[in-house]
Amino acid sequence: MTKPYVFITRKLPEDVVAPLLAIAEVEMWPHEDVAVPRDVLVEKTKRATAILPMVSDPIDEGVLSAGSALKVVANMGVGYDNIDVPAATQRGIVVCNTPDVLTDTTADLTFALLLATARRLVEAADFLKEGKWKSWSPFLLAGADVHHKTIGIVGMGNIGQAVAKRAKGFDMNVLYHNRSRRPEAEEKLGAVYRPFFDLLAESDFVVCLTPLTPETRHLFNREAFRQMKPTAIFINAARGAVVDEQALYEALVRGEIAAAGLDVFEKEPVAADHPLVSLPNVVALPHIGSATYETRRAMMTLARDNIIAVLEGRSPLTPVNQPS
Ligand code: DGY
Repeated sequence: MTKPYVFITRKLPEDVVAPLLAIAEVEMWPHEDVAVPRDVLVEKTKRATAILPMVSDPIDEGVLSAGSALKVVANMGVGYDNIDVPAATQRGIVVCNTPDVLTDTTADLTFALLLATARRLVEAADFLKEGKWKSWSPFLLAGADVHHKTIGIVGMGNIGQAVAKRAKGFDMNVLYHNRSRRPEAEEKLGAVYRPFFDLLAESDFVVCLTPLTPETRHLFNREAFRQMKPTAIFINAARGAVVDEQALYEALVRGEIAAAGLDVFEKEPVAADHPLVSLPNVVALPHIGSATYETRRAMMTLARDNIIAVLEGRSPLTPVNQPS
């Protein structure tokens, strides 16, 4: 009997892929740092029973419809806005993501970005490296305090709650906004629910951790930034398209908010001359929220195990849809 064909859109470590080889013919796009071109992805999907894409690979109707034998799309990421899930469901294709394994790692990065932005760490490190340090001065590279301030977390899922836990360690006052109330976060972390615009008005740090959906696209628009304090620092570690980047740029340039820390952008990758990246009051990172060796391996492993489960006729471990 011929083995089912599995296509993986990046080069992953051999030991991660090895357990799949026993039950499937596996092909990987041979590059670790170059995305698979769309036409290649479509071509490979034509004979695939399973594909393992990255969060940067668009798995749209065109790709899904090419896969006449396709049973499972196992995304390597907790976010799955790159996949047309309704189209997959309609075609009976299971879509899986990698929740939980990246929660603490992403929360660490989010909080690091908040600290780096508030205390101007990147600017200060560059200042020293560029030989500009001539004296200790009272307000040299002075930033904003983080401890005892108010953090407003928009999107109180697992990562949001892990960020709240870190904020508590800094004696911060934690506000949150979420589609539904989170009684467990209110009880355990003392997080206080606020309507969206109230949270924006009250927070010193506004942290975006909400998934990208049709409802959250450009949630942070001109009106939202105008609602924030002029001293507010905005952090986005979710998805770039949750923010209207032009509105954010204008808010930063006009001093309507103080600074921003961004790990994500609407169209990635961005170049060094992207308007937001070139602003002095922006700390910009290349989407590294979950990027530690341990966590990236855990994400690959979970995506692989989702595929193995489906190929063996078992239920996937972490599905996001339930096709009949
Ligand atoms: C995710 O898992 O969705 C992250 O954005 C990738 O690091």
